[in-house]
Amino acid sequence: MTTPPTRIGVLASGGGSNMQAIFDGIDAGEIRGEVVLVASDNPDAFALERARRRGIATAVLPYRDFPSRAAFSAALAAPFLAAGVELVVYAGFMRMVTPEFTAHFTGRSINIHPALIPSFCGPGFYGHHVHEAVLAYGAKVSGCTVHFVEDEVDGGPIIVQRCVPVREDDTPDTLAARVLVEEHRAFPEAVRLYCAHRLRLDGRLVRVLPD
Ligand code: GRF
Repeated sequence: MTTPPTRIGVLASGGGSNMQAIFDGIDAGEIRGEVVLVASDNPDAFALERARRRGIATAVLPYRDFPSRAAFSAALAAPFLAAGVELVVYAGFMRMVTPEFTAHFTGRSINIHPALIPSFCGPGFYGHHVHEAVLAYGAKVSGCTVHFVEDEVDGGPIIVQRCVPVREDDTPDTLAARVLVEEHRAFPEAVRLYCAHRLRLDGRLVRVLPD
């Protein structure tokens, strides 16, 4: 008996291009998953529109509506649990969440970071701040990292990384655009492997089982 597709819940705050890359992988038959929920802290996130166009349930939880980060996190967990989400995908989600959310999905949550962890990551390293820091440091390569989410920001075991060259005339925008192209390859690959049950944790090492 074939196992059913993995039920995926997405957290997104912005345009959702990484989420779209996962949609595309599902539609191409490469990812054995089904996105059943897209949630955002930002009512205007285009990621929500992308979900609505596919008839996927959405949840909007404006962060300022909650008295604390823990209350926001607990409220955020509810739709994911109700939808029977088996894999949480942080696709450009700009809010830190507490164990009131993360504890429900330990080992079943992945995030994409637009740099090569353990460089240029951790608190304060998000969005353009990452690329500005890469350029200011004079790094010659950058890239993106898909990793399991743990309570240490950007500290979880690494699943997939992809590199890009840093050019002398790069701006944060040009570097971000080059990295984003690789994000759209790395994220679907990590989700594909997860949904194929080919990822095994060995301490903090992620082993990829043969196909
Ligand atoms: C990406 O650059 C990702 O690395 C970062 O947020 C951005 C998300 O972009 N976490 P999008 O919303 O997926 O287009």
